[in-house]
Amino acid sequence: MKKAIIFGITGQDGSHLADLLLEKDYNVIGVTRRCSVDNTQRIKHLSDHNSFKLIEGDITDVSSVVNILKNNEDVDEVYNLAAQSHVATSFSQPALTWDITGKGCLNILQSIVDTGNNCKFYQASSSEMFGSSYDLDPDGNKYQDENTKFMPNSPYAISKCAAHYLVRLYRDAYNVHGSCGILFNHEGPRRGDNFVTQKIVKWTANFVKWLHSKDRSSTNVHFNSNNIIVGEDIFPKLKLGNINTYRDWGYAGDYVEAMWLMLQQENPDDYVICTGNSHTIWEFLELCFKYAGVNSIINWKDAIHIDPELVRPSEVPFLRGNCSKAKNVLNWTPKNDLEGLVKLMLDAKL
Ligand code: NAP
Ligand code: GDD
Repeated sequence: MKKAIIFGITGQDGSHLADLLLEKDYNVIGVTRRCSVDNTQRIKHLSDHNSFKLIEGDITDVSSVVNILKNNEDVDEVYNLAAQSHVATSFSQPALTWDITGKGCLNILQSIVDTGNNCKFYQASSSEMFGSSYDLDPDGNKYQDENTKFMPNSPYAISKCAAHYLVRLYRDAYNVHGSCGILFNHEGPRRGDNFVTQKIVKWTANFVKWLHSKDRSSTNVHFNSNNIIVGEDIFPKLKLGNINTYRDWGYAGDYVEAMWLMLQQENPDDYVICTGNSHTIWEFLELCFKYAGVNSIINWKDAIHIDPELVRPSEVPFLRGNCSKAKNVLNWTPKNDLEGLVKLMLDAKL
């Protein structure tokens, strides 16, 4: 039976990865940090699993990481999914973001070296590292792959770049079997509420429930700058920032399989994981309205309020990945398209 440690077990990806590894008969140890309220919602269903255990730890505390590795000398695979992962928050809390998202990875790598552990290591790198950089294919279409230059433009992306280069260094200098998955945005029903897809899905689901709760759908709809008004009732508009950026969105459940595949390779390497399709935020919104059936009642343009406070100081304008390397080497392909993702997320909320 293989043994894996997951840092970031309580997050979206940590929970999906734990499901996958338990299906594959692993012993899974999840590292959670001390929290004043329960933060294990996404892994509740695993609490009674015989091969699943939670231990307390924090990647910003190197002695905590060393002890975890010392107490688990026989671990086969270590996944670092822990991060302050919200890009906008990284502008308001840059030092915290650096400590967790950048230095946290160094703490794990150095602990692996110091304890002489032979485990394989996975680092959650990000398409944010490309910033405003892209390459052009022969037809002039923009894309990013493993050879595209990094031009990070947020404290989060800079921390991720540092971690990414550290993995490369520890691979070359200390022979650590460390691989980086450069994952493009991936979402699903377990996505945090303050990422744009889940924010849109949650608002749409609440709006549908509100409309149907008093059969308001047949009444005339009016607006003011912040609210939707039906009869005497009001519903607050959806506040968003920049809706013209492009993202390459996939399903988190598909992407954790790629993480596992990277660690099954004889040699460590870096891989882009994505769908190869790119859409704007407003296209996601439009799809969501269509699937929820609210587009016949209200146009999405009337339902949103652009809030300048939600516009970031610096933005990644366009992301579209090319995952040919992962297809060829790992035999990995994404299984869900954007419409499938919208359905999955909305059905879960409705
Ligand atoms: P997430 O839902 O925000 O989860 C982050 C996890 O990190 C949570 O379990 C969180 O614990 C944990 N964590 C935060 N600070 C920690 C610390 N000091 N010590 C230990 N654990 C800590 O993120 P995700 O969407 O699952 O993403 C997983 C990883 O992939 C992250 O590194 C993210 O940056 C990266 N990534 C994500 C995407 C994406 O689209 N989802 C794309 C590319 C890369 P709490 O529950 O206690 O907060
Ligand atoms: N969160 C959020 N909230 N984003 C908004 C909003 C809003 O109200 N309005 C517009 N956006 C725009 C953001 O400015 C960004 O251009 C886009 O929607 C996506 O934002 P997020 O969903 O927050 O994701 P992200 O692309 O910034 O970062 C995610 O993907 C990265 C991979 O590219 C995170 O999961 C990162 O951890 C991950 O590395």
